Amino acid sequence: MSATARGRIELADLSLSFPRRDAARLPVLDAINLTVGGGEIVTLIGPNGCGKSSLLRVVAGLIPPDSGSARLDEQPIVDPDPRIGLVFQEPRLLPWRSVAANVGYPLELAGVQGVERAERVSGALHRVGLTAAADSLPAQLSGGMRQRAALARALVREPDVLLLDEPFSALDSMTRDRFNVELLALWERLRTTIVVVTHSIPEAIFLGHRVVVLSSRPGHVVADIDVPLASPRTLDELDAAVVSATAREIRAHLETDAA
Ligand SMILES: Nc1ncnc2c1ncn2[C@@H]1O[C@H](COP(=O)(O)OP(=O)(O)OP(=O)(O)O)[C@@H](O)[C@H]1O
Ligand SMILES: [Mg+2]
Repeated sequence: MSATARGRIELADLSLSFPRRDAARLPVLDAINLTVGGGEIVTLIGPNGCGKSSLLRVVAGLIPPDSGSARLDEQPIVDPDPRIGLVFQEPRLLPWRSVAANVGYPLELAGVQGVERAERVSGALHRVGLTAAADSLPAQLSGGMRQRAALARALVREPDVLLLDEPFSALDSMTRDRFNVELLALWERLRTTIVVVTHSIPEAIFLGHRVVVLSSRPGHVVADIDVPLASPRTLDELDAAVVSATAREIRAHLETDAA
């Protein structure tokens, strides 16, 4: 995690609103200031509708902010960028394409063909443990496998930044624990910058080097909390006293906001 690692994100005074039926606009993000170092994992937590998914979409270059800036390694993010992979809140796989063809789709769009594409797809499937399902259709997969496929699709272009929007929220708690452990193991190998949205305080702590708490809409940063756990982490560490203290701190910020 050196200061020069790739994948540094800087959000400065970033505000966003959406058009409404009336003339007024719906303010969604309010002057967000947030830096995520290259190779760092930051978890975002905040109430429903506070703008977390919108924030990830801005960082992915899918929607422009009203004001302020989003930068990746000093460059403004203006368009979807191959250095940034996004896994949406609902896995959006093309139902008529096999898993491998879904994972290969971003490469297809980028003009990567033949053996190179096939090798990169099988590498990404291997990383998420989905090799055996390469020829299946999305409808034949469990929810967890669909999430893995979406993750493989985000990884296939070897991004410097991974944005994960509640990636495991639809999974049962044991599968979710296992996926979180696997996600950290993947991070140990790739050292990608990761921003992950979650509603679970234990998950936010287990995954994050820092936990950023957002207020209700329009979302702004109400707390930025360092997680006092070293890497690699084990689920058992979630029982440690420092973790309870961190959880209390996060809860206090969320509750103050809701009051
Ligand atoms: N494309 C859009 N056009 C208009 N309004 C939108 C659009 N996308 C999101 N919104 C509104 O912006 C607000 C923030 O939505 P967003 O999905 O970013 O919240 P969130 O924090 O991800 O919520 P959740 O925890 O439920 O996933 C909501 O009020 C939502 O209805
Ligand atoms: Mg959301």
